[in-house]
Amino acid sequence: MKCLVTGAAGFIGSSLSEELIRLGHQVVGVDCFLDYYPRMFKEANLEQLRASSQFTLLEQSILEADLDSLLSGVEVVFHLAAQAGVRASWGKNFEIYTENNIRATQRLLEACKDIKLKKFIYASSSSVYGEVRSLPMKETDYPSPVSPYGVSKLAAEHLVYLYWKNFNIPTISLRYFTVFGPRQRPDMAFHKFLAASLMNKPIELYGSGEQTRDFTYIADIVRAHILAVESSAEGEVFNIGGGNRLNLASAIAVIEQIVGRKLTIATRPAQKGDASHTYADISKAANILGFQPMVSIREGLEREFVWLKNFWNKNKGKEDVYR
Ligand SMILES: NC(=O)c1ccc[n+]([C@@H]2O[C@H](COP(=O)([O-])OP(=O)(O)OC[C@H]3O[C@@H](n4cnc5c(N)ncnc54)[C@H](O)[C@@H]3O)[C@@H](O)[C@H]2O)c1
Repeated sequence: MKCLVTGAAGFIGSSLSEELIRLGHQVVGVDCFLDYYPRMFKEANLEQLRASSQFTLLEQSILEADLDSLLSGVEVVFHLAAQAGVRASWGKNFEIYTENNIRATQRLLEACKDIKLKKFIYASSSSVYGEVRSLPMKETDYPSPVSPYGVSKLAAEHLVYLYWKNFNIPTISLRYFTVFGPRQRPDMAFHKFLAASLMNKPIELYGSGEQTRDFTYIADIVRAHILAVESSAEGEVFNIGGGNRLNLASAIAVIEQIVGRKLTIATRPAQKGDASHTYADISKAANILGFQPMVSIREGLEREFVWLKNFWNKNKGKEDVYR
């Protein structure tokens, strides 16, 4: 199968691309290397991929690329490219989100409407829910994002649905719940906590630590995509959660066990745009896709720590990249 992976240099896009290649598929990646976090992380993500003859990468934005030639012969599109990050999405920055999350998605969907695809998978997010009345979050809950980022992900999800409804593009949207594991983005909490512990720095904890997240291990997220391609579902939205719901204070305790010492915590006020809780009801994904998460928080964090230690062993002297 020939697949297009947008955002292929990123945390999840590169992990998915590697798995597709392992399964024997051809992968065309596209990524414009947005500067939201340092390029050195994305180059490291691409190291193995660049060595594979099954992988090609176009360094360009979806907003400008010649999509007809990019999509030539492609059977499955995995649309993961986006400007990520909740807290940075306020103010003037919102334009980066509308361009890369909404307009880029519309441009890609337009280019897909006249070709025969097996599947178009869109990387949606738990951030589309906002503060729901009761947990766990179900696909039938009214989405009410609390951040501009969440609004942009929901708008693109609606576009994906529209292009299924009107042009029969066989779409599926996967709402990922906080993804962690090797290659996690450097702006995300676990990466920052593990890096701070390696560098003997205090960690910053926003809010009380009581906020909960449903943490999902990267390999579980990747497997959900493979299941989605094989399923006969179309025009559907699925929660993809890890079944690892815990509050940040408890997650820090697990990290302290893994790194073998207490972390110094600097508390900061809660940030606008952060939902208080996320928790996925994954029964729809279990019933229709056959999805079940397999990796626990402890096991996944141990693997992330090993990856981060290796990363910094190879990149000594460049540690000054964390904001
Ligand atoms: N990481 C999570 O916990 C999480 C949770 C929910 C949803 N998501 C979604 O998953 C996807 C991947 O997230 P990630 O954590 O791997 O982020 P990431 O920033 O590591 O990867 C996204 C990649 O997309 C690229 N990109 C952005 N706009 C582009 C454009 N216009 N053209 C080409 N490339 C472009 C960026 O350069 C980046 O490399 C995103 O759509 C994100 O919204 C992530």
